[in-house]
Amino acid sequence: MRIIRTKNYEDMSKKAADLIASVVLLKPNCVLGLATGSSPIGTYDNLVKMYEDGNLDFSQVRSVNLDEYKGLPRTNEQSYYYFMHEHLFSRVNIDPKNTNLPDGMEENSRKACKKYDKIIASMGGVDMQLLGLGHDGHIGFNEPNTEFDKTTHCVNLTQMTIEANKRFFNSIDEVPKQAYTMGVGTIMAAKMVIMVVSGKDKAKILKKAFFGPVTPEVPASILQFHPNFVLVADEDALSLVK
Ligand code: F6R
Repeated sequence: MRIIRTKNYEDMSKKAADLIASVVLLKPNCVLGLATGSSPIGTYDNLVKMYEDGNLDFSQVRSVNLDEYKGLPRTNEQSYYYFMHEHLFSRVNIDPKNTNLPDGMEENSRKACKKYDKIIASMGGVDMQLLGLGHDGHIGFNEPNTEFDKTTHCVNLTQMTIEANKRFFNSIDEVPKQAYTMGVGTIMAAKMVIMVVSGKDKAKILKKAFFGPVTPEVPASILQFHPNFVLVADEDALSLVK
């Protein structure tokens, strides 16, 4: 595990984007595993800037996202498809045909998950997986559990995650209760994993995940075993780590 300590969110976003840009430069048709949430927004803004400045080309890049709410259509502003479109896809020259998210409107969970795993396999796996860190240690929607889920699966979101996500909806009742998520096994199979973490509110879980025991009760902790894991975190998030 390598830790890149940054001054703040802006600095974290710049450094994470630089790392991702290097992946794209080295392999123009790479498979980027992407995340939603507040942590990677600045990273995407930096990637967009590099594209606008003519320094980065997404024309051959392929992408797979970590997760998608079950039951939200792509047109819903809170769907992860919508998020990715807003923050990255519509702002760079990535071919929409090369972007993938689990199909939130597929009601048959088994079918949706199998289809997504097939897509990831057909792309030859993930070159770089970008992650955020949930307050309970979740990655993607892999919540604390008694075991690590390997492949794409349907999850019931925990009350904590529903609470954390309610800020994006009009009321807590509108927050979807289930999601499709890539499994921990698929995340661990990525050739490189970059996690962006910012803010004092993440300090406790960051310490627990990366300086405590590896356990499915803290899903992110398994990244301690990843051979090419880079944690890009700001001083606030690292404030409990010496
Ligand atoms: C997003 C995702 C989640 C978030 C996590 C942190 O696709 O899978 O695991 O990365 O909930 O969210 P933020 O960045 O909003 O704190």
